Amino acid sequence: MEQLKSHGKWSGKWTFILAATGSAVGLGNIWGFPYMAGTNGGGAFVLIYLACILIIGLPIMMAEIVIGRRASSSPVNSMKSAALDSNRSSNWQLIGWGGLVAGILILSFYSVLAGICINYIFISALPDLQLSSEEQFSITTSSASNLLIWHTVFILVTAGVIASGIKNGIGRFVRVLMPLLGFILILMVLNAVINGDFLRGLQFLFSPDFSQVNPQTFLSAMGQAFFSLSLGMGAIMTYGAYMSDDQKILSTSITVGGLDTLVALMAGLAIFPIIFASGLEVNSGGVGLVFITLSQTFETMFLGQVFGPLFFILLVIASLSSSISLLEPSVAYFSEKNIISRKSAAFIFGFLAWFLGIGSVLSFNILSDFQLLGDRTILDSIVFIGNNLLLPLGGLFVAIFVGWFMKKELIQEQLQLSDGFLNTWYFFIRFVAPIAVGAILITQI
Ligand code: TRP
Repeated sequence: MEQLKSHGKWSGKWTFILAATGSAVGLGNIWGFPYMAGTNGGGAFVLIYLACILIIGLPIMMAEIVIGRRASSSPVNSMKSAALDSNRSSNWQLIGWGGLVAGILILSFYSVLAGICINYIFISALPDLQLSSEEQFSITTSSASNLLIWHTVFILVTAGVIASGIKNGIGRFVRVLMPLLGFILILMVLNAVINGDFLRGLQFLFSPDFSQVNPQTFLSAMGQAFFSLSLGMGAIMTYGAYMSDDQKILSTSITVGGLDTLVALMAGLAIFPIIFASGLEVNSGGVGLVFITLSQTFETMFLGQVFGPLFFILLVIASLSSSISLLEPSVAYFSEKNIISRKSAAFIFGFLAWFLGIGSVLSFNILSDFQLLGDRTILDSIVFIGNNLLLPLGGLFVAIFVGWFMKKELIQEQLQLSDGFLNTWYFFIRFVAPIAVGAILITQI
């Protein structure tokens, strides 16, 4: 293959772990998982989720790292190199291209949502007590220019971190901010223990109700596990490209999966007890949970004007560390091919995501009645194409490629597992992962 410009490596073993955990920990952990667990059988769901992380998430994560690390390049060229070195068609690089597209699409709406979180740092610090939290949210989102400003700020920070490079940009960012994220989360959980109805929170999240478990529960858990680990678009593959060769892929993946799950569980323990203590009920996940129910809780809670902003800072850090991994694959490709510099690539692709994001901004206000795919707004259509189609498709093909088409020696060179572990991994990546991810794909369409 032609000579590609080298990207360099992370400094130290923990930087990969922090960067990959940063990618994995995002809005999905904080406003997605806890609500899903609480309303789908509590502890029963948590157990199924853990199993999904173990038998679907980790094997695919390891596969992505294997492909990325051996080529040390973007998903497009890493896939191409793995395919050519296995005497397969270079068309397998299409998986990489799909990843670049998915990353930009997902970034476009992720940034709008994260922008609202930045806005809420200020809103929760100085709440207008004349307004109900519904009214506040509706005022915030009905102004397209307001959303656009925060969306712009978020994209600029994302592109800025990436423009500064792998060691000095992304690496430094996650080494400072991921520990801070952990610290804020611990504070929020302590607050929930002291100020919240912690027992009821525990019950909501963990008391197992197996009567609620049905085939749909398994699909939701699989989809959530897959999404939460940021699989299917080459984010982990790209980060794996910067991982040093002496780092063990199995134990590193277990650490990342474990930290991601820990954050999701702690988020639930930080959120539900304080909601219950303020006499509210949890009746939605996502935007409604955070901007309406939880915001109302902060208005009346002891020190709510401190914990409110802290919570939104937590969300912003979690989103930023995810958004950089959505943009990095595209930047890596165009800078390693020497087409443009890393800096230009960061701002050009950041601009592209920003531009597409205008559609999501308008879905909250001017174009809220406009329908694109079926009865979906522009925002929901992009979520659908990115999250529900491209991610599972990417994951499915990665599993099929690595399990059935890539040379075993190339894989073992990277994994260096004992025969027993290698065969177990092969079983999951060949059979379990494609069937599971295929099922997610079919049911989400
Ligand atoms: N894992 C992120 C979350 O939990 C969302 C996500 C999915 C993602 N796929 C990704 C983030 C790819 C970065 C890259 O919110």
